[in-house]
Amino acid sequence: MSSQPTSPSNAPRYLFLFLLGLVIGVIGLVMVLRAVEGRKTWQDRFPEAAMHVMEAHVQELRVTAAANRCNATDVLPHLQTLRYLANDPELAFPELRDDARFTKHAGELRATLDGLLATPPLGCPGVEAASKQIGVACKACHQDFRG
Ligand code: HEC
Repeated sequence: MSSQPTSPSNAPRYLFLFLLGLVIGVIGLVMVLRAVEGRKTWQDRFPEAAMHVMEAHVQELRVTAAANRCNATDVLPHLQTLRYLANDPELAFPELRDDARFTKHAGELRATLDGLLATPPLGCPGVEAASKQIGVACKACHQDFRG
């Protein structure tokens, strides 16, 4: 004779309630996150957007060099756009604009791009070197200000 209890275990029921709670919790979390995202204004998005557009152009320069398309018409538009976008860090991060190190980094990025526009890189090795040079200027600021 076995001495096991004969009443059926409650485990499946608890498991079901646990999974139901989990699903409801996940759905609630997604709804909250979407609501937060939906309330963001352009001001909230501007800093990251400004950075992402610069990143896109640096990336395009690398892709162009890797694909061996390094004519002035392939390269100059990216350098020009980057030069204009490099005016934006102070606008995008108003809380940092009075920090001398921040404006110095932004100024150095602008100076790098001015130099590249004054003597545009010739050939793909030049374009590759230019994108590295730009990357160094980006990184200098990130090391100090990107948390
Ligand atoms: C003068 C300072 C400065 C310069 C120069 C700078 N950045 Fe940034 N960047 C920042 C700061 C500050 C953040 C952090 C933004 C945040 O997390 O809100 C950032 C964040 C980023 C991010 C991440 C954005 C995100 O989704 O959180 C990318 C990508 C980026 N920068 C690309 C670049 C590229 C490419 C360059 C150069 C062409 C560059 N940055 C030059 C200050 C700078």
